[in-house]
Amino acid sequence: MADDLSPIDRAKYVAARRSVDFVQPGMKLGLGTGSTAAWMVRCLAERVREEGLAVTCVATSTRTADLGRELGLKMIGLDEVKWLDLTIDGADEFDANLHLIKGGGAALLQEKIVATASDRMVVIADAAKEVAQLGAFPLPVEVVRFGWQTTKALIEETLYSLDVLSRDVTMRMVQDQPLLTDEGHFILDLNLQRIGNPRQLALVLNQIPGVVENGLFVDICDVVVIGHSDGRVTVRDITSGRIEDGTVDPALGTNIFADLD
Ligand code: 5RP
Repeated sequence: MADDLSPIDRAKYVAARRSVDFVQPGMKLGLGTGSTAAWMVRCLAERVREEGLAVTCVATSTRTADLGRELGLKMIGLDEVKWLDLTIDGADEFDANLHLIKGGGAALLQEKIVATASDRMVVIADAAKEVAQLGAFPLPVEVVRFGWQTTKALIEETLYSLDVLSRDVTMRMVQDQPLLTDEGHFILDLNLQRIGNPRQLALVLNQIPGVVENGLFVDICDVVVIGHSDGRVTVRDITSGRIEDGTVDPALGTNIFADLD
């Protein structure tokens, strides 16, 4: 099974595997969305199965909730716990300050709510997600359906006063239909190429009527776990400044898919 993994999936897997070391018995956890987060959910379920680790989990999307339940994790709603010890999630880009672009999987709204409601956010990513400056990955912005074209025009106009390189805004589609988020909203993808001031952009976007939330995570992430396809893993903690290098066996545990069909 391990041989079937592409180099990028091996990198995602080793980052995910290392990240579940942060989980302690009794923790209330936020579980992210996306392919890297799905590896993390499988690694967590393996610890729960093999060590009897007791944790309570809140998902950031219906996809993750379904996977967690399928793997036997105790899944509850955020309102049942209100606050979490730790959230582990993927990202589309991260910079040296651990500012992120998220929302490639259209789950940015619940991801931001859950991460913000956590004492600590650990991001898991393959090394290709690290950038000197955010913006090559199109920035997702969740907008309400009512008047979305007006919201799009307002966003385009606003971008002229901001430090970005390109200003191309597109509606995210699934086949020939607009994608609908778990909350029933649309996603606009902002192709900006370069985001000079992520903090300012995040604040300004959220002032526009019709914008629900944007995919910039500024000062939310505490730790990034960066995986490489050869099994090397780097853990960077922005608060302590500590950087730790290690390795994880990139071969899949034989029972990582034990509870899946
Ligand atoms: C979903 C996200 C994901 O974390 C992000 O898109 C990374 O996904 P992947 O791990 O599949 O590369 O923000 O909304």
